[in-house]
Amino acid sequence: MSKKSIDTNIDGLTFLEDGEVLYSDLYLLSETDEKGIVQYASDSFLKVANMKAEELLGQPHNIVRHPDMPRAAFKSLWDDVQSKGFWTGIVKNARKGGGYYWVYATVLRSLDKNGKAKYVSIRVKPSREEIKKAEELYATLD
Ligand SMILES: Cc1cc2nc3c(=O)[nH]c(=O)nc-3n(C[C@H](O)[C@H](O)[C@H](O)COP(=O)(O)O)c2cc1C
Repeated sequence: MSKKSIDTNIDGLTFLEDGEVLYSDLYLLSETDEKGIVQYASDSFLKVANMKAEELLGQPHNIVRHPDMPRAAFKSLWDDVQSKGFWTGIVKNARKGGGYYWVYATVLRSLDKNGKAKYVSIRVKPSREEIKKAEELYATLD
């Protein structure tokens, strides 16, 4: 089923009737410290999230969390980045002011200049098929 677009191509964004926002950017980046406090966000991430740098930097990354996302997804994110150094998954984020967007996120553990752990998330566009599977799975999780 295709969703109706109500407004297209504002800065590469497409706004669908049900609140989903599609983006044309190749990737959306952010970085956190070891506690998940945002230290950096790319202009593309800020645009899709509808946030200014000063609203996001210094905040916990759950500021963009969508209530449809199960806790289990983020538990596996944190378990995996701490134990294996990486995690990949499909994430639905809330857009400031309303709406949401889906990302296919790869989160990596790295080191800051003082040798402390930091984390980087590189987000690309998931396919409709990947989104559909994630939606179905997440609806069954707590
Ligand atoms: C580098 C990095 C990027 C993250 N990006 C997101 C994100 O885009 N959306 C999100 O909801 N959580 C993201 N998280 C997970 C949050 O830190 C947080 O665990 C999650 O939003 C759930 O909130 P809670 O831990 O307070 O329950 C990210 C974590 C890291 C380390």
